[in-house]
Amino acid sequence: MKATMRMLALAAALMSVSAARLGVVQTEGGQVQGTSHGVGLFRSVDVFKGIPFAGTPGLWEKPKPHPGWDGVLKATEYAERCLQVTLLQTQTRGSLDCLYLNIFVPQGRKLSSNLPVMVYLFGGAFLLGASDDLAVLGDSLYDGKEMAERGNVVVVSANYRVGTLGFLSTGDARVPGNYGLWDQHAAIKWVSRNIAAFGGNPDNVTIFGQSAGAAGVSFQMLSPHNKGLFRRAISQCGVALSPWALQRKPMALAKKIARKVGCYRSDEDLMVACLRMTDPVGLTAAGKVDVLQMLGNGVVMDLLEHAPVVDGDFLPDEPGRLFHNAADVDYVAGVNSMDGHIFAGVDVPSINKKKANTTVEDVRGLLTGLTKEKGTAAVASALSVYSAHWGSVPDPAAVKKTVADIETDFLFLVPTQIALRLHAEHSSGGRTFSYLFNMKTRIPGFPSWAEAEHSEDLQYVFGKPFATPLVYFPRHRDLSRNMIAYWTNFAKTGDPSQGDGKVPVPWPAFTRTRRPFLTINHEMSESSVSYDLREDYVSYWVNRYSGLPSARQ
Ligand SMILES: *[C@@H]1O[C@H](CO)[C@@H](O)[C@H](O)[C@H]1NC(C)=O
Ligand SMILES: *[C@@H]1O[C@H](CO)[C@@H](O)[C@H](O)[C@H]1NC(C)=O
Repeated sequence: MKATMRMLALAAALMSVSAARLGVVQTEGGQVQGTSHGVGLFRSVDVFKGIPFAGTPGLWEKPKPHPGWDGVLKATEYAERCLQVTLLQTQTRGSLDCLYLNIFVPQGRKLSSNLPVMVYLFGGAFLLGASDDLAVLGDSLYDGKEMAERGNVVVVSANYRVGTLGFLSTGDARVPGNYGLWDQHAAIKWVSRNIAAFGGNPDNVTIFGQSAGAAGVSFQMLSPHNKGLFRRAISQCGVALSPWALQRKPMALAKKIARKVGCYRSDEDLMVACLRMTDPVGLTAAGKVDVLQMLGNGVVMDLLEHAPVVDGDFLPDEPGRLFHNAADVDYVAGVNSMDGHIFAGVDVPSINKKKANTTVEDVRGLLTGLTKEKGTAAVASALSVYSAHWGSVPDPAAVKKTVADIETDFLFLVPTQIALRLHAEHSSGGRTFSYLFNMKTRIPGFPSWAEAEHSEDLQYVFGKPFATPLVYFPRHRDLSRNMIAYWTNFAKTGDPSQGDGKVPVPWPAFTRTRRPFLTINHEMSESSVSYDLREDYVSYWVNRYSGLPSARQ
């Protein structure tokens, strides 16, 4: 029996060798050679890691073309991530020479050509992360092999600068900002110029991303600099309108960083000159999240300071006024039902404690922190909306879940609904699709009311239940198969229900007049399509809250 299995494995290995493979590929910078991974009978995926799409960028400069290389570049290892603070914020890691991308190309007996292309932008609060991030069981979470093979698309993942080096801005011409967005844009442009040599179709590019990467996708859509470079876009849990996605007081942040590295001067020119001469490692370390700042006042959202700015160039105007630039782009956007839980647990720790109750005062405190821009005016009205279903003796679990809902709505869900509406309103043909991902969390120890946490969608989109089957159940594979089908159908046709991927239920388009959304989990049927996601709450934030006057600051 064992011997037969071994024979079969050997035969499969030999046969997959005879799947086509790209070998050496000519790019604009020189030749690259990746590796070929057999995935079954006459099927393989060509993987190229660490291809430079730009040179080493200067400090707070736009990315510039790579000078190129002689001979064949071995594209077999991921490049270093862009210089950044570590997850625990105690050190820095990474390199200044970091503008590299990775390519995953599915192959059958014949060499693939003209395949749709999906370019992934990683998340990490514009502070952390890389295209090869979060390798837990072997491959990176963002490894594109499963998606490429199962969806028959070329998957590309790209690095971009983060933290102080990616997003510091003085809000003027001295240090305009948005370097990380320019990097993303440079990667997309490189794909447009070079992907045909890898079997991709440059006229069929979709960009997708999660969290800060999803906001990045949204910014790329809104920028006038991407005209014609991609046709479609997917934002998973983040849009340009998210309150954490835009830094509105960049000079104040630049001064704070300057103080930390000893560059503060009342003369701003001198301050910037000093910053420009400072060691990038020190600058990066100075960009770490300032936890002390939050104690006793404020919410975790306030800590996410490094972000894009309205610079008059990449973003010529407020994001809400740039949707005409995305009029012909097909767009999928959605959130996870508990995207805000991780933040809520920091702001109101009692929600995750079995032996503690969360009080109305806690809820009021959270709302006060989130709605600072409106002064105290918003707190009472928001509380009345969010407590409306509590009844006279609130169930402690209902109060706790409300706290998570408030953060999910404020940080993710409501901004996404606004983006979907603006996209549909400005469309000149680009289609719009909305989803809610609510698969029960796989993280042990969470309260019973917890649903889909921030980032939990990614494992399914990237096919982890297939890549590491032992830690998943069949229901996770069903979900993963369906998400890959919707995502890659969309990349092929602009409609998640049309294409060669079989889907459990058609996903109707969101339009100016009708607002359907697809609820994504492991049990999907006709009843997975509903309308007007969290309408009462969205309407509160969109109509009543926005109408309140801003507080003087
Ligand atoms: C929490 O509230 C419930 C219901 O109001 C009550 O029965 C319980 O004793 C409270 N628990 C604590 C730790 O205060
Ligand atoms: C995009 O790819 C799909 C699937 O391969 C194909 O049917 C479609 O014609 C392509 N679109 C363009 C504009 O090339």
